[in-house]
Amino acid sequence: MALSDRFHGIVILGAPGSGKGTQAKLISESVDLPHISSGELLRANIANQTPLGIMAKGLIDSGNLVPDDVAVPIVRDRLMQDDCKRGFILDGFPRTIPQADALNSVLHVLGMCITLVPYLRVSERMLMQRLMHRLTCRVCGTTYSLVSLSPGDICEKPDCGGVLFRRSDDDPDTQRKRIAIYEEQTAPLISYYAERHILKRVSGEHTVDYIFRKLLEAMRSSRTCDQI
Ligand code: AP5
Ligand code: MG
Repeated sequence: MALSDRFHGIVILGAPGSGKGTQAKLISESVDLPHISSGELLRANIANQTPLGIMAKGLIDSGNLVPDDVAVPIVRDRLMQDDCKRGFILDGFPRTIPQADALNSVLHVLGMCITLVPYLRVSERMLMQRLMHRLTCRVCGTTYSLVSLSPGDICEKPDCGGVLFRRSDDDPDTQRKRIAIYEEQTAPLISYYAERHILKRVSGEHTVDYIFRKLLEAMRSSRTCDQI
């Protein structure tokens, strides 16, 4: 069976800067499944100045998590859309054990499941380096490095034309805080998913292409919802 014919419920786990967004975007383009980034959904609310965005901005800018009762409904509503029926790639959600439990309940009701949780391991030194140099396209979300480009430059993707910017939570103090919160609140999800036999540990310190190939391999050998 072709990879794109199977149902894939994927959660990419990893610290801030581990490459979750980079890999989720590649998988999404390769197997034509929606890439659902809770951070992007929140940033869109901030950009549109919705009540939720106004509430979330201070928390995100200071490196804190938004409360579970804010994060869960945003992702739940997205998962209920038709394009998720063949599968989805979650990036940045769940981030706490209560979020993971809530996700299981939502998927159960929808008749879906998580088939694979790639966990991208990256040292703290490298996480800091990557976030310090990250530039993000305002339109398509592609990331670049400050080493070769500057804020205000234009995205190099064909037909995009988006402006590159530095995320407001990418300064060193906020990065340290985000990594500390990740260790405290999100890292427990590694054993949560390992106990459910769907965790796949992948070193996130290789090249983007190498990691992408490893993730596609893991998707090929992942179990189906019936087997979980
Ligand atoms: P979110 O947007 O999810 O941010 P994050 O988890 O902190 O992760 P990042 O997006 O910073 O990193 P990434 O792992 O995606 O790495 P990337 O691919 O960009 O969340 C932001 C905030 O929103 C949170 O702090 C919180 O406040 C809130 N929030 C979101 N979800 C929430 C939830 N569920 N509950 C509560 N609050 C929530 O890569 C990083 C850089 O490295 C890039 O420049 C990239 O080009 C480069 N790179 C990637 N891979 C490689 C590689 N293999 N080699 C070299 N460079 C690489
Ligand atoms: Mg990201």
